[in-house]
Amino acid sequence: MLKGTRIAVIGGGKMGGALIQGMIAGGLVNAESVTVADTDEARLGELARSCKVLVTADNREAVRNADLILLAVKPQNMAEVLAGLTAAMVPSALVISIAAGISTAFIEERLGEGVRVVRVMPNMPALIGEGAAAIAPGGHATEADLKRTRHIFDAVGITVEVKEDLMDAVTGLSGSGPGYVFLIVEAFADAGVRMGLSRETALKLIAQSFLGAAKLCLLGEKPPAELRAMVTSPGGTTLAGLKVMEEGKLREILMAAVEAATKRSAELGGRK
Ligand SMILES: NC(=O)c1ccc[n+]([C@@H]2O[C@H](COP(=O)([O-])OP(=O)(O)OC[C@H]3O[C@@H](n4cnc5c(N)ncnc54)[C@H](OP(=O)(O)O)[C@@H]3O)[C@@H](O)[C@H]2O)c1
Repeated sequence: MLKGTRIAVIGGGKMGGALIQGMIAGGLVNAESVTVADTDEARLGELARSCKVLVTADNREAVRNADLILLAVKPQNMAEVLAGLTAAMVPSALVISIAAGISTAFIEERLGEGVRVVRVMPNMPALIGEGAAAIAPGGHATEADLKRTRHIFDAVGITVEVKEDLMDAVTGLSGSGPGYVFLIVEAFADAGVRMGLSRETALKLIAQSFLGAAKLCLLGEKPPAELRAMVTSPGGTTLAGLKVMEEGKLREILMAAVEAATKRSAELGGRK
């Protein structure tokens, strides 16, 4: 679907790099149709060697003939990057931004009215092809633009579409989600050690339990409450553990955590 599309990636860091790898490994694009621009020369050398993409230190050179521009720099660098692109880019290029908190309107204002922008909130497991991304169209993006964007992020995980005003909620849930899970896995592993297991064994067992349970949830055949009922026999071990979690108000803690992260995302984006 992206074959023949010339792609410019501005910012070849962790996320930019993961997306380039995912697109090439997934056969969406040929390496020679991707140009990466970054201020970090060493990083460019690494990407040229490992992914065989074209590289440049000049953002304008990267976008000059690009049909699709992927913006993967930090939010605080976006204004400066956009200011340099306007004169160089093809006005009909599709612009995809993964910068947290940066609205499509912010990009449209700086790149010129009518520019087609899609905003994406990916998350960290995209690095291993297991990301969860939400996409939202800007004012001029078309159905075809959304389809192309979805195609890219499907190469490194799963993709859902949301309205842009829900992007803070996405950031608070799946954007921050891996961080929550790491804390919970860490705590469970500590608990396993406390009960006598080695750290290595405890970590392996609990991480695989998360993976297996998550896969069952993603199958979508039964809601989580029903799956939980299936593993909770009357008077049994799971029930004893769940009782402690409910008494400790685990659900309320998780709700409050996502609410706090959503609010923080809005604050960082200057929306609150
Ligand atoms: N990592 C995540 O889990 C995650 C999740 C969701 C969304 N995101 C979004 O993805 C974006 C990138 O994050 P990241 O974690 O990949 O950051 P990163 O690893 O720091 O990558 C950003 C890259 O852009 C380069 N850069 C800085 N200024 C530039 C400029 N003016 N022109 C061209 N390149 C420039 C940086 O070089 P220097 O190192 O020299 O500054 C760096 O190599 C952010 O906007 C973030 O909000 C990331």
